[in-house]
Amino acid sequence: MENQEPKHVRRIRYKGTHPKAFKEKYKELQPDLYSEDIAKVIDQGRTPAGMHRSICVDEILAILSIEPGQVGMDATLGYGGHSLEILKRLQPGGRLFATDIDPIELPRTEERLRGLGYGEDVLTIRELNFSEIELIVAESGLLNFVLADLGVSSMQIDNPDRGFTFKVDGPLDLRLNPNKGKPASSLLKIVSQDRLTEIFTENSDEPYAHEIAEAIIIKISKGITIETTKQLRDIIIEVLKIVPQDQRKEEVKKTCQRVFQALRIAVNNEFGVLEGFLNELPYSLALGGRVAILTFHSGEDRRVKKSFQHFFNLGLYSEVAPDPIRPSAEECNANPRARSAKLRWAEKA
Ligand SMILES: C[S@@+](CC[C@H](N)C(=O)[O-])C[C@H]1O[C@@H](n2cnc3c(N)ncnc32)[C@H](O)[C@@H]1O
Repeated sequence: MENQEPKHVRRIRYKGTHPKAFKEKYKELQPDLYSEDIAKVIDQGRTPAGMHRSICVDEILAILSIEPGQVGMDATLGYGGHSLEILKRLQPGGRLFATDIDPIELPRTEERLRGLGYGEDVLTIRELNFSEIELIVAESGLLNFVLADLGVSSMQIDNPDRGFTFKVDGPLDLRLNPNKGKPASSLLKIVSQDRLTEIFTENSDEPYAHEIAEAIIIKISKGITIETTKQLRDIIIEVLKIVPQDQRKEEVKKTCQRVFQALRIAVNNEFGVLEGFLNELPYSLALGGRVAILTFHSGEDRRVKKSFQHFFNLGLYSEVAPDPIRPSAEECNANPRARSAKLRWAEKA
């Protein structure tokens, strides 16, 4: 068996001239091999499959004003884009603790960052919910800065196996950690109509909350389970037949975005863990330490704003962002996923 030629692996086949499905985009999924192709995708204002473009990087770095020797935390490691910029500024002598709850993407990001030369001495990575920040502080001591870039990464959204997108069919899962809790499809089997209406209203201000919840519960009561993203999308399309035809396509898209977001927030208890994290922050930062939080919808932004103001009134923060910072028009044009972002910060007294 010596000197055996490596087996030739045939690249994935796709219909037409360009790959469309996530798994077919073999060039985008191998950025090390196809850097020129990746650059072209980014120039077109798109995010390459399996990658995430970090938002408000310059604004965040300006707020956190990171210096060599500091100790900080990136609570939402994701693709590691923010972490990488932070790491460059922390040396010599600094240390970054980075957490994420996604057991699928976390090892990939860790491998990439370790491959760039960031060893355990400068970068500690933990699979952890940021609501458990006290476990990091027990290891790191009080932090000079904390960053949280809330929500989901492009890798999570674009991977149809995760069920985050209504654009392609996949299991209706929506868990950031698929090893814990129950997928959205299970929630829909046991939830009451009133609770479901509340989830759509409270989590994403859904104007058709009542109608969509009713349509889902009718299906479930007939023994029809909703297991896939397409099944849920089809229910929304059916409900929105009440919308004038010329507005329907756009309305279906926006409603799908809101409904999927509301279910994601419920399945991952996103507001609960955010509040836990916000309550621990003033006790996790060193004197003069700063926290920056990037939010993507009003439910998140409201909670961050309220918490920063609350602890400012108690004298635990010396300064808080007077208004949220928005990404520049240039960034929003280059990366449409930045459009809903709002950045707030606070400084420990
Ligand atoms: C928008 S992405 C972060 C992208 C990252 N800043 C970058 O530059 O690549 C958000 C990440 O936060 C993670 N996340 C969401 N909620 C979390 C939580 N409660 N604890 C830890 N990580 C969480 C998600 O799994 C996702 O990877």
